[in-house]
Amino acid sequence: MSYLGCEEARDHSGRPPLVAAVDDARVCARQGTTIVVTPVRFEYGEPHIGLGTSTPRLSWRIENAEADWRSDAYEIECVRGGIAESFVADSGEQVFVPWPFAPLRSREIVQVRVRVASQGRWTAFSEPSAVEAGLLEARDWSAHWISPSSLGGLNDGAPWLFRDVELDRAPVRARLYVSAQGVYEFSIDGVKVGDEVLTPGWTAYEHRVRYQSYDVTELISAGRVRLGALLGNGWFRGQLVSPGNRSTYGDRLALIAQLEVTDIDGSTRIIGTDEEWRATKSPIAFDDFYDGQCTDLRRVLDGADAEPVDVVRNDVHVEAPTGPGVKVTDVVPARRILTTPSGRTVIDFGQNLVGWVRVHVTNGRPGQRVVVRHAEVLEHGELGVRPLRSAKATSEYILAGSGPHVLQPTFTFNGFRYAEISGVADLRPDDVDALVVGSALERTGWLQTSDSNLNRLHENVVWSMRGNFVGVPTDCPQRDERLGWTGDIQVFAPTAAFLFDTDGFLSDWLRDLAAEQKSDGGVPYVIPDVLRNTDPAAAGWSDAATLVPDAVYRADGDVGVLARQYGSMRAWADKVLALSGESGLWDTGFQFGDWLDPTAPPEDAAQAQADPGVVATAYSVRSLRAVADAASVLGHIADAQWYRAQERRVADAFVRAYVDADGRILSDCQTVYALALCWDLFDTPDQRAGAGARLAELVIAGGLTVGTGFLGTPLILDALTLAGRSDLAYRMLLQTACPSWLYAVSMGATTVWERWDSMLPDGTINPGTMTSFNHYAYGAVADWMHRVIGGLELVEPGYRRIRVRPEIAADTPIGHAHVRHRSPYGDIDIVWRQDAGEVSLALEVPYGVTADVWMPGDRAAHTVGHGRHEFHCALPARAGR
Ligand code: BGC
Repeated sequence: MSYLGCEEARDHSGRPPLVAAVDDARVCARQGTTIVVTPVRFEYGEPHIGLGTSTPRLSWRIENAEADWRSDAYEIECVRGGIAESFVADSGEQVFVPWPFAPLRSREIVQVRVRVASQGRWTAFSEPSAVEAGLLEARDWSAHWISPSSLGGLNDGAPWLFRDVELDRAPVRARLYVSAQGVYEFSIDGVKVGDEVLTPGWTAYEHRVRYQSYDVTELISAGRVRLGALLGNGWFRGQLVSPGNRSTYGDRLALIAQLEVTDIDGSTRIIGTDEEWRATKSPIAFDDFYDGQCTDLRRVLDGADAEPVDVVRNDVHVEAPTGPGVKVTDVVPARRILTTPSGRTVIDFGQNLVGWVRVHVTNGRPGQRVVVRHAEVLEHGELGVRPLRSAKATSEYILAGSGPHVLQPTFTFNGFRYAEISGVADLRPDDVDALVVGSALERTGWLQTSDSNLNRLHENVVWSMRGNFVGVPTDCPQRDERLGWTGDIQVFAPTAAFLFDTDGFLSDWLRDLAAEQKSDGGVPYVIPDVLRNTDPAAAGWSDAATLVPDAVYRADGDVGVLARQYGSMRAWADKVLALSGESGLWDTGFQFGDWLDPTAPPEDAAQAQADPGVVATAYSVRSLRAVADAASVLGHIADAQWYRAQERRVADAFVRAYVDADGRILSDCQTVYALALCWDLFDTPDQRAGAGARLAELVIAGGLTVGTGFLGTPLILDALTLAGRSDLAYRMLLQTACPSWLYAVSMGATTVWERWDSMLPDGTINPGTMTSFNHYAYGAVADWMHRVIGGLELVEPGYRRIRVRPEIAADTPIGHAHVRHRSPYGDIDIVWRQDAGEVSLALEVPYGVTADVWMPGDRAAHTVGHGRHEFHCALPARAGR
């Protein structure tokens, strides 16, 4: 093994360069250049206007630092009202640094910059970043909630609420704050405000609703200004959970909006929603998330036939978002146009995605109907709509004239790869594209390997995440469901937090989880809780209360999320202890169990091989461990000791009840061994070794296909790796026979499926009622791919310390891999290649991160800090730890 430090990294070896991704130019640029502190990020980075906290935590990155640079101080400078103040601390922290100044006031704009020092040597200041506080107090709202007096009934279509304002002069600054019961699209003089869609998004509306803040200075000029808002049904009043189930949160749509215009003389005028507003019908004649939208373009928004509005009482708490909103994040062109066996025109976008179809019609005629139907797959050459269940997923347009028209919906979204379009003659691919809609999270994780099928699988995971992070983390985006199932995000959270910056998004969702948790600690199966079970408690699902905060904290180093969720985490742990009682075994009551394991019959997803008591008790241990860990981090010492003791008690009970001396576990299937190996639920090394050997036997006997459901799948490859059988893990991952991850890929999947066999080998759709083609749960395997193929494993929260340890050996069926993650400290980049009996690895470590590097066969780690490093070693015959 040889190690070349930063200086020697330039190629002395004559070896071919590693995968191009290690960018030599960047390495050169660093030598001899100055250290750069990146612009400060406030709290979760978004929003920049309308920040919801008065004491935002600050984070920054340090780039181009020399190898021996160690920050030991920082200075934060804040300019508010033209006056600068500064704060200096003897600290090397740079992520989630507490706000050191007086709290921000509502609407206050501040500019902040930072510099850091090492032994008295200061860097230059970062470029300044600006942030503007939102309406932080309820009393900042002078606007009233309004609702159309008679329009806007359940079957009336989307009302348009509007009013005209006269302004003597164009403002120097204008801000608009808006929220709704329902979903809104706000416009000023006909121009849509902002780039978010489906606003205000979905929260537990009984407890809180978000508002958005917009800088609308550019949209407002002197003279008459028309303010208008369309109101759709959305989650508030549209169908949810089951066909025909409407008005979950109420039956009246409502709007609150406050425009604040500041004149050049400094005076501010506030125009809020009130009885001055009027309401009229809009072109949107029908809108629903499940069924679609009907838009009659013959209706124009001219304010004719307007009716009064009512000021309505609404005590809901209105608050700012803590992450990016839902936006159009991409445009996918039509790949081809097909004529189906029955003669219909179908567009194939080549990618299963979530969003809208956009159709350009140039030569329409008044009254012409254009209909767009959606499906994720074709069956026998026609749209396969059976998996949508009752959801009609249809957009319909009635044209006003010859056009041109650009047709796209506003208040619905669809999951689709195929769209059947009728009513347009001579459609060409250029006339149609797909707009990808989802939470506009920043991408932070990438993986490429030498295996194109694995790369496709990884892409599928990314697309399933994009399609199911639409304001809340959902199970699926296409059928009559689309709910925030807790089990799904519980298993997927570590993967999600690697691929995208999910901290603000998931922290926000967790607030709702805590708000909707039952007084005895029970955790609903979906958040926002629209199922409203009276006594919800199910292993793997309710454990989202403990395991999602745990995953967020680990990935992002955000102690705040643990602090905020701690009460909720504890309450769930206490509920688990109450359920298992003296015995420590949670073996009674309802369980989803290892949901949808491959042996589950189409109509009974809960009928799994794994014993529900084994699964639930193992999860109890895992949750108690997470609470004990959180208590330690937060300094609740007595709690930490108590939950640690409970964790041991339940783990002992697990071993006594379910594990025999040789490591055999009750119900003897892949999932139970995966749980016990990953969470170390054994008394003796013999049991652990026996369980590992038994798991290998089962996997081999199963022909290296997957035997796990939702709860076993995230763990099965880790369990094999821990058992020293990463050879089997690789072979299982590369398996293409069903059930396996690559079976779907071999069937042309472009997203992760809900079932291993959502599409049967003969091209027919699984007859089960739960047959989504876009469910991220099984995509949790990507977490193993990042850690074990890529070799990037998080050791300390926020990637402060990492382990670089790809599993590579002569029997590893992967020739090279490249993993990258944008951690809170900066980009971590690993490229490795095996070639001619040798392994080469190139690593980039950002400032603030320490890496323990284990090359194959190493008995001890090489610890390195920031910079670029290369390692080489001989290829061992077998992988294994
Ligand atoms: C959802 C799942 C969910 C499950 C739990 C299904 O209908 O799509 O992903 O976790 O129900 O029962």
